[in-house]
Amino acid sequence: MLEHNQSDDCSKLLRSLVQRYASRIKLLPDKPEDSVEATVRALWLCALGAPTSSVKALNAPLAALTTTQIDDLKELLERRASGVPLAHLTRRQDFMGLEYKCSEAALIPRKETEILAKAACSLLIEKILPVNQRPRVLDLCTGCGNLACAVANYVPECAVFAADLSPDAARLAGENAKHLGCDDRVQIFAGDLFGPFSSEQFAKSFDLIMCNPPYISTGKLPQMAEETITHEPKMAFDAGPFGLSILDRLLRDAPQYATPGGWLAFEVGLGQGPGIIQRLSKDARFKPATGVLDDNKNVRAVTAQFSHNN
Ligand SMILES: C[S@@+](CC[C@H](N)C(=O)[O-])C[C@H]1O[C@@H](n2cnc3c(N)ncnc32)[C@H](O)[C@@H]1O
Repeated sequence: MLEHNQSDDCSKLLRSLVQRYASRIKLLPDKPEDSVEATVRALWLCALGAPTSSVKALNAPLAALTTTQIDDLKELLERRASGVPLAHLTRRQDFMGLEYKCSEAALIPRKETEILAKAACSLLIEKILPVNQRPRVLDLCTGCGNLACAVANYVPECAVFAADLSPDAARLAGENAKHLGCDDRVQIFAGDLFGPFSSEQFAKSFDLIMCNPPYISTGKLPQMAEETITHEPKMAFDAGPFGLSILDRLLRDAPQYATPGGWLAFEVGLGQGPGIIQRLSKDARFKPATGVLDDNKNVRAVTAQFSHNN
């Protein structure tokens, strides 16, 4: 009977908090998993001392809170309502079904980047593993290591190398590799794009190069959601006057690091895909590129095979 009453009390408190915060928590289109209910549940678990992402929290049982924990939950909800990203409060974010550690050091992984992660895993399983059973994968602009660790988790045959210009992000990526139990397959470096891989041992050595680069033009940064621009690193978004500063360098230099006939996979901003695919079609170092679409038929990732004489 007591248990029944407790679960009734939990449901009542949950419902009343969801109702109270429905108009106060701003939902962001690029974080569709952070609904108001998922937010209340994730912060509830946080108040219980069990940090959990919004995705996992949605289906996790909620234990009763003490009075102090209810106060903690209300304070966390106030911070969320004031614009602090949910993942900065929980310190957790789901990506491809895995729980990552999160902090201000790196971009919070977005659902939309799972399009690139899935494309990379498919390329590895369908095209690369049949010709090389121990593929080498490079993840540039790794942030918290979400793409690197997802690939290492779902395609464990890979040796994954990853790097980020931000030493803090690289450190967080290393923590995630450990946290997710794939640090034996993921090596993280700090440095500028291909910089950490300039030694001879990496020349023409990667079967897959993947990258989710910054791709917002500097002029458009002020139009981004205030929460994003205030709390997430500008370095993760700003890609110069045309939004292509990193992508230009990626396309210029990648062939020096890829195995002949290896693959490139990268994320693009809304509207950038068709132009980039056309540009690759004129570059003899690549075979024709493919756009990977989101549910609204926008190209959000591009894959291309390097020519055998790249
Ligand atoms: C869009 S975020 C992607 C983060 C993560 N891979 C993801 O998918 O969520 C871009 C990342 O590129 C990093 N970055 C920016 N300029 C860079 C550069 N010149 N070399 C390497 N990394 C860079 C940023 O620090 C940031 O972590």
